[in-house]
Amino acid sequence: MLSAVQIKPDIYWVGAVDFNVRNFHGYHTYRGSTYNAYLIMDEKITLIDTVKAPFADELIDKISQIVDPAKIDYLVSNHVEMDHSGSIPAVMKVAPNATIITSGPQGLNGLKAHYGDGYNYQTVNTGDTLNIGKRTLTFVKTMMVHWPDNMVTYDAYDKILFSNDAFGQHYASNTRFDDDSDMDIVLEQAKKYYANIVLPYSKQAGKAVEACGGLDIDMIAPGHGIIWRSHIDKIMECYKEWTSTEPQGRALVVYDSMWHSTEAMAKTIVDAFTACGINTRLCDLKVDHISSIITEVMDAKYVAVGSPTLNMTCMPNVAAFLCYLKGLSPKKRIGLAFGSYGWAAKGPERVAEELAGIGYDMPFGTYTQQWVPTAEDLEALKLSVMDVVRQQEGLA
Ligand code: FEO
Repeated sequence: MLSAVQIKPDIYWVGAVDFNVRNFHGYHTYRGSTYNAYLIMDEKITLIDTVKAPFADELIDKISQIVDPAKIDYLVSNHVEMDHSGSIPAVMKVAPNATIITSGPQGLNGLKAHYGDGYNYQTVNTGDTLNIGKRTLTFVKTMMVHWPDNMVTYDAYDKILFSNDAFGQHYASNTRFDDDSDMDIVLEQAKKYYANIVLPYSKQAGKAVEACGGLDIDMIAPGHGIIWRSHIDKIMECYKEWTSTEPQGRALVVYDSMWHSTEAMAKTIVDAFTACGINTRLCDLKVDHISSIITEVMDAKYVAVGSPTLNMTCMPNVAAFLCYLKGLSPKKRIGLAFGSYGWAAKGPERVAEELAGIGYDMPFGTYTQQWVPTAEDLEALKLSVMDVVRQQEGLA
């Protein structure tokens, strides 16, 4: 963890492992994260990205294990977001003659806004190259995957794609490569990362993946998590599937409940989908974090959301989920709103408005239940949901 790791001859991982981060601007990073930076020892010594600011000393210490940091010639900043650029001031302090390579004009504007214009900057566009000795680096802008400034750096000599956020995972471990890590966990975290960071920019991400598909790659070195070298085809295949944003035919039922009436409705709706042969997951917002639930939305054709009425609107947990969903969800989904109430059905109504506002089809109407549902009420709900699902699935 405290040592630089050689990933190819003359190329080193010099990043930082953050085992303790649990909140990444709202994303529950329960497996921690890494901030990956890479040092290329060529005629021109080149650092690819930096790390989050609190880890600057670790970065500089690892670089110092290889070379005097003052000798760095180029600092390639693939992305302005501070988990990657936060240690630029620290690096530039020890390497004041380095030139920062960034995308123009978005990267340049972003870096100047964060760190001032007192550094040597050089902007690049897609297809521009930088010769650093044996190696020539090629830059490809990947705008809005997931910020306007994003770019990736390709090293044809080593066949490495330095992909920054793309293909990353919030996953802290003492392993650096896919083939010495637990692939089930890594792929789960890669999917969660995609859902929470890249999903709304899937169109742009699809184009970026297509562009990368034409490169001769035998290593993908992302800005977070493990480095891909043995399972490149697998992660590429996953990205092709995820960028398509096509649902996998499943159903997702998400709810919060006050006195179990909405919960009873949620469980009944799961029964209805199950009776129609639909693979369905139930998520209680009291126990499931919104950043985990959003991963389930990727596979869900049906997204059912339930809330009772609280203070003439929906429950706060549900409002937070709907807000997060609105920002991230693909539109090609079918919504279902439900919930219980005492004297005004404002909770489920608010849910219905929000789901329709995302752009979901709403063929179910809104299922509301005053006070506590009877067995007959729940049976009627089940039959109604089944009826609509059968129509949607062409089974009616
Ligand atoms: Fe990992 Fe967009 O920063």
